[in-house]
Amino acid sequence: MPKFRIPDGEQDARHAYQVVADELLLDGNSRQNLATFCQTWLEPEVRALMALCIDKNMVDKDEYPQTAELESRSVHMLADLWHSPDAANTVGTSTTGSSEAAMLGGMALLWNWRARQRAAGKPTDRPNLVTGPVQICWEKFVKYWDIEHREIPMDADRLLMTPEEVLKRVDENTIGVVPTMGVTFTCQYEPVEDVAKALDKLQADTGLDVPMHVDGASGGFVAPFCHPDVVWDFRLPRVKSINASGHKFGLSPLGVGWVAWRDADDLPEDLIFNVNYLGGNMPTFALNFSRPGGQVVAQYYNFVRLGKEGYRRIHEAGFATAQYLADEIGKMGQFEIIHDGRNGLPAVAWKLKDGTDPGFTLFDLADRLRASGWQVPAYTLPANLSGLAIQRILVRHDFSRDMGTLLLDDYRRALEHFSKHPVSKSMTPAEASGFAH
Ligand SMILES: Cc1ncc(COP(=O)(O)O)c(C=O)c1O
Repeated sequence: MPKFRIPDGEQDARHAYQVVADELLLDGNSRQNLATFCQTWLEPEVRALMALCIDKNMVDKDEYPQTAELESRSVHMLADLWHSPDAANTVGTSTTGSSEAAMLGGMALLWNWRARQRAAGKPTDRPNLVTGPVQICWEKFVKYWDIEHREIPMDADRLLMTPEEVLKRVDENTIGVVPTMGVTFTCQYEPVEDVAKALDKLQADTGLDVPMHVDGASGGFVAPFCHPDVVWDFRLPRVKSINASGHKFGLSPLGVGWVAWRDADDLPEDLIFNVNYLGGNMPTFALNFSRPGGQVVAQYYNFVRLGKEGYRRIHEAGFATAQYLADEIGKMGQFEIIHDGRNGLPAVAWKLKDGTDPGFTLFDLADRLRASGWQVPAYTLPANLSGLAIQRILVRHDFSRDMGTLLLDDYRRALEHFSKHPVSKSMTPAEASGFAH
């Protein structure tokens, strides 16, 4: 089979299929990929709905009005889940994932800030965005829109945003503050409510009114079901928009994210395009045009299939497994647990204990686990802790406690191996290069 040019002639469909399917054998086994936040197991009914929708284009809302209707209902269900004061009338959209959703949320912040500055007769050329340690989608957003990124660096004793650190960085050019519910590196929740209160006080003291967007890529589908007392969403009037990934803890197939605004007025009209060339006059606010409809339909299916109870039960099973793994890894003696599956996502993150020289690095361990198919990423943290390596596991609903015990057996075997055959003392610069999920 030619690999780098389109062959001149046809192939038999079964032969071509087999060649391609055989190549896919070389990919990792996704269920053993403990690095990803994204779904790797789906119900047969989801697969059936995906097949029904393979030919439906999400953008053709006039041709596929019922798919559009399911999208619209899903937006309102999410706005309601996130306590929008007027969930039935607010606005939002599905996207291809949280990256696109974050871009749209960020653009609305930028547009609204420009309008405020213009109204006050002030310049609009030096916008800035204040965040904690964020996922790369926010680095993209600030670069694409030429915005100064005031990212709060991590410290040895502080891995998250705090109100004090936020207040040091906001000024009249701040388009918004973005906390994350489930920081990518450690899976912890940032203190959204405390930051909102600090910004309320700032406004009362100085008049400066700084809006917030919450990156709920993972936590947006976890906290409402499992941590209802954590106040992070539209219950806080300062939170104007929220993004979340349907394909992460929303339990839907890869390719769906969501963004919703607290109130229809929080999304500037100027960002909405009306197109009439598909038949009918349709508003659209998205970076993509054509896009598959199946993921959105599957998301709606999950909402009605699982209900709040189903989401809670699935995620709680994940939390129980994560906490079990954290306790067992903690007992091994060489590791310090950074996130133990409490106050954050169903996940575990750990590092080597300070001052130890066990004869291996976390990168060596990750490499050794690959021999039995496990993908447990080791990566370095962002500034100011870029010299610190950690390892992390995401517990998704297809990673059972039984699978967890198998992983622990392999982990112990790897430690045993390195105790007999120590390999390295410290990270090489190449190993210490940043983590990109
Ligand atoms: C906090 C956070 N924000 C945004 C993203 C990007 O999401 P997506 O992969 O859905 O584009 C991720 C992905 O891991 C994330 O963890």
